[in-house]
Amino acid sequence: MNDALWYKDAIIYQLHVKAFLDSNADGIGDFRGLTDKLDYLQDLGITALWLLPMYPSPFKDDGYDISDYLDIHKHYGTLKDFQEFLDEAHRRNLRVITELVINHTSDQHPWFQDARRSPSSPYRDYYVWSDSDQKYSGTRIIFTDTERSNWSWDPDAKAYYWHRFFSHQPDLNFDHPRVREEVIDIMKFWLDKGVDGLRVDAVPYLVEREGTSCENLPETHEVLKEIRRAVDAGYPDRMLLAEANQWPADVRPYFANGDEFHMAFHFPLMPRIFMAIKKEDRHPITDILRQTPPIPPNCQWALFLRNHDELTLEMVTADERDYLYREYCTDPRMKINIGIRRRLASLMDNDRRKIELLNSLLFTMPGTPILYYGDELGMGDNIYLGDRNGVRTPMQWTGDRNAGFSRAETAQLYLPLNVDPVFGYQALNVEAQLRVPNSLLKWTKRILTVRKKHRTFGRGTLEFLNPSNRAILAYVRKFEGETLLIVNNLASTAQPVELDLRRFIGTDVIELLGETKFPRVAEHPYQLSLTPYGYFWFQLASSHGARR
Ligand code: NOJ
Repeated sequence: MNDALWYKDAIIYQLHVKAFLDSNADGIGDFRGLTDKLDYLQDLGITALWLLPMYPSPFKDDGYDISDYLDIHKHYGTLKDFQEFLDEAHRRNLRVITELVINHTSDQHPWFQDARRSPSSPYRDYYVWSDSDQKYSGTRIIFTDTERSNWSWDPDAKAYYWHRFFSHQPDLNFDHPRVREEVIDIMKFWLDKGVDGLRVDAVPYLVEREGTSCENLPETHEVLKEIRRAVDAGYPDRMLLAEANQWPADVRPYFANGDEFHMAFHFPLMPRIFMAIKKEDRHPITDILRQTPPIPPNCQWALFLRNHDELTLEMVTADERDYLYREYCTDPRMKINIGIRRRLASLMDNDRRKIELLNSLLFTMPGTPILYYGDELGMGDNIYLGDRNGVRTPMQWTGDRNAGFSRAETAQLYLPLNVDPVFGYQALNVEAQLRVPNSLLKWTKRILTVRKKHRTFGRGTLEFLNPSNRAILAYVRKFEGETLLIVNNLASTAQPVELDLRRFIGTDVIELLGETKFPRVAEHPYQLSLTPYGYFWFQLASSHGARR
């Protein structure tokens, strides 16, 4: 547990406490329930958990609207329940990452309630106020479906307040030193409890300046470096993960010289994976990774296919966005803001081959993979639920009442269970998949076991091969004397490929999932045939030496 770069070898599982297991029959998952399911998570093979916001909140943005940073929402239990969960997770060598949502609070937070009452409130300057709604007019709106402006009028304060997200989420004013101190105190409160990492929400938007887009400003980076200094000073083995939905060149500064964030999500890569498989062409992926600048040695990309939000299409061109909407949104209900609110399995038409292929990419490209809860089973979504709730339904444990998630009245569940004939819990659940040797869940377990045997996946270099068949995405990963070769077929038809592996002449080729020996590399091009959406994970090993 004491490698400071632990996040480079991690496999992160993202979950919402409310969605996992309800221990007290109120229809909402809680920490005691989650603690009971740690054995499941350990057995699955993940090494870290990322919990969505768990703090007191009016829940107008699923907990990203925080009204008290220093407590647990009563639906989820108590601080004691949280501590027990954390200790139990650590006992199983599982790390825990929680949320640090600091760009904004809920309008119900006592700071805002006090601030709006009077200009002389000590909390007034915790927020960003204006007499006019015309300031910072160069700033885009993020929640385009619901918000018309980044300013809202507060009748009590008799002033406009600034908000980058929902109007009930006033932005904090990071020009105020007390705000920065408060944020660091909040962070220390959770780090002192023992959390291993923090996903810092919405980091590009902390500071506002006239005449700019109010995104990625140097002043914002200063604040973030101050936060990092506080982590390094007291908690050197902890990790900060940036949520910065930006182009690679704009995300790169969040790593700075290895002294800002340890990790950042690779947002632009994700939609291009979905594009590549539809187009049956590797170029969307290779192009964006070629445009991705190198990062400092102590830093790492966080890779994901799906999460609790819409599949965001902010980081693609207008043409690419049209293409993805056309291909993946057969019903207008699937769209939200600038994105698509669907889960992985439904996006892949529940085609097991495609689901495996996308996971093959997730687990072999450079970075740390993040698995969204339920995707290990191929859970579906419900596009008839509001906002992004369709991808946040209860975990499907069994075919029993309430999917084994809760003993509450079915009508009391925080969201309805999926009862679709294909994706419904009666057919698709953990218990059933544990019984079937070839289930997606069993496959996921196997693939995680293999991934964990090779640190090269998390730490190695990346080099693309350039076969003439554009449907084939092949790359070499190298780390400390180990060489891996990954070959993916993005097409729905069988494909041949010839790879130039001359530099590896004489090496053995071992397929890692079956430990099968393939023909040795020779002078002539290395020929492979791939099944539709097929993939190979090979180790290239000197025929005399040891395999690892
Ligand atoms: C990013 C979170 O991922 C999203 O769920 C939330 O709505 C916004 N931040 C606003 O807090």
